Amino acid sequence: MKTTLFVILLSFSSSFFGQSFAQSFEQEAALLSKDLKQNLVKNLTDKMQQDGTIPALEFCHINVSALAKTAAGERMANLEFGRTSHKVRNPKNAAAEWMLPYLDQFKVTNIKSPAKPVVHQFKDGKKAYLDPLYVGPQCMTCHGSPAKELSAKVMALYPEDKAVGFKLGEFRGMIWIKEK
Ligand code: HEC
Repeated sequence: MKTTLFVILLSFSSSFFGQSFAQSFEQEAALLSKDLKQNLVKNLTDKMQQDGTIPALEFCHINVSALAKTAAGERMANLEFGRTSHKVRNPKNAAAEWMLPYLDQFKVTNIKSPAKPVVHQFKDGKKAYLDPLYVGPQCMTCHGSPAKELSAKVMALYPEDKAVGFKLGEFRGMIWIKEK
């Protein structure tokens, strides 16, 4: 009985505190980044299973509309985010100047001893959160040595593609989340 009451109180207080205290940027960004990663992997895996790899090509991006329905929707209001890499597929994802040192720092790490997310501070006091992404088995189809047909499709869509030749466990790129 005592234990039950304790558990109820504990869950009540944690949801109460969770809502009444504003979270720090670091906490918000960490949660959003986790959502983004899960969302990305889920979208890709579902699409590849349902329709095959080629139709899934466009699905290696972060599906914002799905996220808007989750708690992350509220967190996103004052944040912007995206992905970048030292080897981009889409030139639109190219790193901004301030991101380059972090890519250099991350690219020598791999999944066996992954780098921890880093917080960057801008001169105006705003912050950005940078979370490294590593190559998992599900990434290899499109970022390893893609089969001929797939490779042709990638080249047609992304003539400047640099995001092939990755090995399992290598650093692939990072999610960035920035205060607006
Ligand atoms: C079905 C093929 C496919 C799979 C599987 C895939 N990607 Fe991609 N990836 C792409 C395409 C296409 C783009 C370019 C998306 C765009 O236009 O923004 C991309 C872009 C990216 C980018 C943004 C930087 C850039 O190169 O433009 C990152 C980071 C990335 N992928 C990581 C991953 C990771 C990590 C995995 C495994 C969890 C993965 N990808 C699996 C096709 C794929």
